[in-house]
Formats: sequence, structure tokens, C-alpha cells
Amino acid sequence: MREVVINLTYLLASAMFVFGLKGLTHPRSAVRGNLTGAVGMLLAIAVTLFDQRIIGFEMIIAGAIVGGLIGAVFAIKIQMTAMPQMVALFNGFGGAASVLVAGAALIESGLVDITGSMTQLVVATVASGIIGSVTFWGSLIAFLKLWEKLIPGGAIHFPGQQVVNALLAVVCVVLGALIIIDPTQISLYWILALVAGVMGILLTIPIGGADMPVVIALLNSYSGLAATATGFVLSNNVLIIAGSLVGASGLILTSIMCKAMNRSLANVLFGTLAPAEGSATADEVYAGKVKAASPEEVAMLFDTAQRVVIVPGYGMAVAQAQHVVRDLANFLTSQKGAVVEYAIHPVAGRMPGHMNVLLAEANVEYDQLKEMDEINPTLETVDVAMVIGANDVVNPVARTDPKSPIAGMPIIDVDKCRTVVIVKRSLSPGFAGIPNPLFAADNTLMMFGDGKKALLELLSALKEG
Ligand code: TAP
Repeated sequence: MREVVINLTYLLASAMFVFGLKGLTHPRSAVRGNLTGAVGMLLAIAVTLFDQRIIGFEMIIAGAIVGGLIGAVFAIKIQMTAMPQMVALFNGFGGAASVLVAGAALIESGLVDITGSMTQLVVATVASGIIGSVTFWGSLIAFLKLWEKLIPGGAIHFPGQQVVNALLAVVCVVLGALIIIDPTQISLYWILALVAGVMGILLTIPIGGADMPVVIALLNSYSGLAATATGFVLSNNVLIIAGSLVGASGLILTSIMCKAMNRSLANVLFGTLAPAEGSATADEVYAGKVKAASPEEVAMLFDTAQRVVIVPGYGMAVAQAQHVVRDLANFLTSQKGAVVEYAIHPVAGRMPGHMNVLLAEANVEYDQLKEMDEINPTLETVDVAMVIGANDVVNPVARTDPKSPIAGMPIIDVDKCRTVVIVKRSLSPGFAGIPNPLFAADNTLMMFGDGKKALLELLSALKEG
């Protein structure tokens, strides 16, 4: 009876995870989805507590309180632009937990009666040790790279990197086989975790700073796989299901991000992103062609604009300009009678959904956000496109230069709008490191300045005008 209640509750919790994930696919249902998943997790934890046989309730509750408090402090204090490194750290903790739990189960296996076969336990333990350790150390490096305080954010290469990685992978397989043959060799398990950890570090260091979000999505997927393996170690169905969901969704996210950047996963993991030889230099693209405009001049453009499209990018996040952007849009709608929409590129910013999250934080109506594929065919009828801190996602060389590092990446075609206003601090390149001919186009005006400050000036010019 006890077993039936536990398994039925696990089934309910698993269904809640699935419905929670479904809810997360749309901003309108995202909060409900998040809550559904969290309640599912609470159920799973409560029933595991009920089922526990080895350690006391006190220890588990104390662990949950300490962990919960640390999580809450992180969640409250974290800046939106620092979200990717927090996710990296949390993935890492998941990986570390898998290594430790699987290791502990291996030690316990000789001492207590573990359900499930010994072979399943040992094979799953080896998988947990390898994947969990790669996840922990890889995520730690990803976190440090994004933090940029102890190590630089750029790619770190050394000769023979791939060969060393291949050798480490072989050592992991050999150690894993030895543990499966003789599971009493507990020390081999910790050596395996160590070697896999070195592999995790070496796999992550050659990846450049702004490619980290893709790697973090991949490591997220690994942390799910490690949890699944640990689920097999413990014969715990809910852990197997939850881990598989994380593994699959992380992999889907990785693939969406690679597709939106028009790059293969192999290119992100092992390639470097650099301007191709022979591509036009910044001087060739910009010299004598860029037109700067003051906020007062830009304000005059909006007097006659019927249709306005705002294209946010990474710079809006850096400047934390989302609230001013919303005020500007509201003013144009209410005082000038313009129709204002936001064009959202799938990889604008530095994490999936980055722009959606920032604009939702500023209470921008979800109906005003248009996805790239939806808005692109209509851009020719737009009077003013206002690009705020975006660069690569509006760079027309993606369409015109097959040698460019962003060749083939779908972009928001703002160059087709009647007038384009670009708000950024300088002519510096974006993540891809290449010049953007849009800034020198006939129909483009550059409004130089920090995103928030420039927009505040524009708004006061509009109010005075
Ligand atoms: P970027 O191409 O990176 O350009 C951002 C621009 O913002 C820069 O050119 C910078 O110019 C400007 N900026 C920075 N701080 C600013 C501030 N305070 N005020 C105003 N402007 C500021 O950004 P994007 O167009 O959003 O494209 C995203 C890029 O990241 C793509 O190449 C994408 O492939 C890559 N990426 C995205 C993701 C995800 S999931 N979103 C993941 C990995 C990689 P100034 O310095 O001149 O101001």
C-alpha cells in the first residue's frame, strides 16, 4: 500500500512537471507553469521524505531550509544580466549532487539492501559520476567566465586540446569499465569523477564569452542526464522522469539557440567566432557615411510616424532601459497616436527569452511583442524603426556576405523600414565582432549615447516639442 501511494504521488508530480513545462512555453501561462512545476517538486520531496529510511527527517528538513535560503538570497539579489551565470552555478550544483549521491549509493551498496540489480546500480553510478562531474566543473568554469573576476571571459586555447580531451574520455571509459567489473573499488569512482572533472574544465575553457549561454543550455541538459542516471542508481522513478525532462528540454534549447545563430553545435563547442579574412573593415563600412542625430532631431521624426517598431538588443539589458522604452512607447501611442510594436529576435541579448523577460518586467503588454518571422514581412510599412542596443540581430551582412560569421542567420530586416534610428554608445561591434553597414545606410540615423540616458533625453524632447 505504502509503495502504491508513493508511486502514484510520483506519477502525479511527474505529470505536474510536464504540465509545468507546457505552461512555460507561453509568457501568459509561464507563471502558472512555474508554480505547477514547483508544487510537483514539493510533492515529490514530501513523498520522498515519507519514504526515507536511511537518514532522519531532521537532516533532510535542515538541508531543505539551508538550501532554500541560499537559493532565495541568490534569486533576490541577482541582476537580470547575470542570470546566465546563476543558471550555470545551479546546473553545476545539480551535477555535483549527482556525483555525491551516486558515490554514496556505491559505498552503501555493500552495506544495505538496495532495490534494483547491482549491474544497474553500478552502470548508472559510473554514468552519474562522469556526466555529473563534467557538468559541475564545466558549469563552474562557465560561471567564472561570465563573472570575469577570476578568469577572463574569452576563449582559452592550448595546442593539442582536442587530443587531451579524447585521451581523458578514453581514461573515463576504462575507469568506468574497471568499476563495473569490480564495484568494491570505491576509490576508482572518485578518481573517475576527478578525471571527468578535468575533462569538464578542458571542454569549457575553449568556448568564448558570449557563446557561454549555448554551453550553459547544454550543461543544463547534462545535469538532467546526470540526475536521470542517479534516478537509476536509487531506483527512483520521479528522479528518472524529472532528469529526462531537463535533459531533453536543455537539448532542445541548445538546438534552438544554435539554429537562431545559424551555427552548428560543433562550431560553438570547438570553433571560434571571428571575422572572415577579406571582409570589410569598420573604416571601409563607416568612413564619411554615418549620420548622427540629436534626441531633438529624432523627436521630430515621431511627429508624423504612424507605425513605429522598437527592436531591443543586448545593450537595452546593459543600460536597463526597458522601463524608459515602455514610457516612450506609451507616450507615442497616447500622445502621437502611433501604433508601436516590439520586434523580438530569438537570440537578442545573451540568453533565451532575454528581451521578453526584460519587457515583461517593465509591464509591456505581451500582445505588442512580435516575433521576427511575424514582423519581418510587414517592415516595409514601418515609418520609424528604433533599434535599442541591438547590433548583430539587425546586421544585413547576414543576408549579403556568405563569408561573414553571421552569414545565414535570420535577422530583423529593419533596413527595409522607411527610417531607422539606432541607439547605442559608439560604432563598436556586437557579439560577432563585425561592422554593421546598417549604421551607414541612407535611411539610418545614429543617436549615440547610453540606452537609458539617450531615451530619457528623447522622451523629454518629445514632451517639450
Ligand atoms: P549585440 O550584437 O551583442 O550588440 C549589442 C550592442 O549593444 C553593442 O553593439 C553595444 O554597442 C550596445 N550596447 C552595449 N551597452 C549599451 C548601453 N549601455 N547602451 C546602449 N547600447 C549599448 O547584441 P544583439 O543584437 O542583441 O545580438 C545578440 C548577439 O549575441 C547575437 O550575435 C547572438 O548570436 C549572440 N548570442 C545570443 C544568445 C542568446 S540566447 N540571446 C546566446 C549566445 C550568443 P556600444 O558598445 O557601441 O554601445
